[in-house]
Amino acid sequence: MAAVDGLDRFEPPAPVPRTVPPSRLEIIRTVLRNPLELWGEPSYTLPWIETRFFGRTTLIVNDPELIRHVLVENSTNYPMDEIRQLVLRPILRDGLLTAEGDVWKRSRKAMAPVFTPRHARGFARQMLEQSEAFADRYATTDPDGLVRDISVDMTELTYLILADTLFSGEIVADNGDIAGDVEALLHHMGRIDVLDLLRAPRWLPRLSRIRGYRVLRKFRSVVRKTMDARRSAMTDTRANVPRDFLTLLLDIEGPQGLTSAEIEDNILTFIGAGHETTARALSWTLYCVAHSPAVRDGMEAEIDGVLAEGADPVEWIDRMPRVRAAFEEALRLYPPAPSINRQAFADDRFVASNGKSLDIRKGTTVLIMPWTLHRHALHWENPRAFDPSRFLPENRERIGRFQYLPFGAGPRVCIGATFALQEAVIALAVLMQRFRFSVTNETRPWPVQKLTTQPGGGLPMRVRPRGVATPQ
Ligand code: HEM
Repeated sequence: MAAVDGLDRFEPPAPVPRTVPPSRLEIIRTVLRNPLELWGEPSYTLPWIETRFFGRTTLIVNDPELIRHVLVENSTNYPMDEIRQLVLRPILRDGLLTAEGDVWKRSRKAMAPVFTPRHARGFARQMLEQSEAFADRYATTDPDGLVRDISVDMTELTYLILADTLFSGEIVADNGDIAGDVEALLHHMGRIDVLDLLRAPRWLPRLSRIRGYRVLRKFRSVVRKTMDARRSAMTDTRANVPRDFLTLLLDIEGPQGLTSAEIEDNILTFIGAGHETTARALSWTLYCVAHSPAVRDGMEAEIDGVLAEGADPVEWIDRMPRVRAAFEEALRLYPPAPSINRQAFADDRFVASNGKSLDIRKGTTVLIMPWTLHRHALHWENPRAFDPSRFLPENRERIGRFQYLPFGAGPRVCIGATFALQEAVIALAVLMQRFRFSVTNETRPWPVQKLTTQPGGGLPMRVRPRGVATPQ
């Protein structure tokens, strides 16, 4: 796709594709440290590659037709990959992200009404208020502004938004540091252990996760108490019950909807899947925009114009195409979920429209990686460059449905995508209307795949009130 406005493009940091295959030991080390550094040239240039990882056939898929086959047309043959489940299921149990079969089907159906665009729009005001309150922290009279770790800040902001829309802040916690608990939980539990890679039996304890289990027990008890408190409020007709996610979920508690344990699992899932993802993409957006003055100027002008008209925040997502495009481009370059992993349940044959075919054996691990797909030479012009114009409405339809998958596709597509996009546009607009974010000498983020694609080493940036002259 051509850059339509002829501007210079910033190429943000990313590992250079390998030209020599890594040794077995190096593979293990890289998978544990940063899987993004594993992929070689063919993963960024070929439609698919079959290889062997840890004794198992692995298919890396970058072909949109084959992706559609796996995620949509024959999705029942491609359940979640075993290792992914080994890492996430002990934390999230029957939450939507990790549920399978009939439990998943029933839960997805029961929760679809909770995630309608109408409900997401209903949360716009809370997103605005939380973003504005957060932006107040950056207020300063110092012309040099403040230096903040934007990665930490965005994680806190998206957590505050989620806590407000999920529980309306009515969390029954003993120490109140829920955000810290979530952070610890994801840090200790949400990662692959070397025993997972070696496919050691499940009863062998994964030492890397032991601390996580303690936090998990505490966290589940907080969620249960919060649910109990809300249940009593809902039966007490005098109580003024907020219409947040918790109420919406408890409304569908029962034989036709979700069990109490499933609601608990899903609250954990929303916290796990629903704030760090958006936070990472917000951070990468601010970082890339700081390196792209023309993009930044366009966004600022758009934001100023819409806010001057007093537009309702519900409308911002449609009225701020430049802000949305910058966020979508950051999702392309740094997809928060860099890999969508499946496993073939039975032998399968894929036949492409050009007649080429591929046999996929039972047990094959199928990796559909937004990380390589979004940087793939067959699908993108100038793939490593930050160019939000690709996502402006006049160019958007040139992007195929299966070449851009930040939220996945098919029956298991992200249920929170509308929520996340609206939240991101509102947060960016509020922050960028008042402040300008620029890089410092210490701003050297490196993309690292943990649970999400995070800026390794943090993301220190200078935040100055707008109107104060900033170096270009
Ligand atoms: C920028 C932000 C986000 C990104 C990039 C993202 C990405 C994804 C992706 C790629 C999947 C599909 C995984 C797969 O097929 O294996 C997914 C599923 C899911 N996401 Fe998100 N997500 C985001 C925000 C959210 C939010 C805000 C929520 C909830 C409040 C959420 C909840 C979920 C859930 C529950 C699933 C599982 C759906 C199912 O399997 O039926 N996500 N997400």
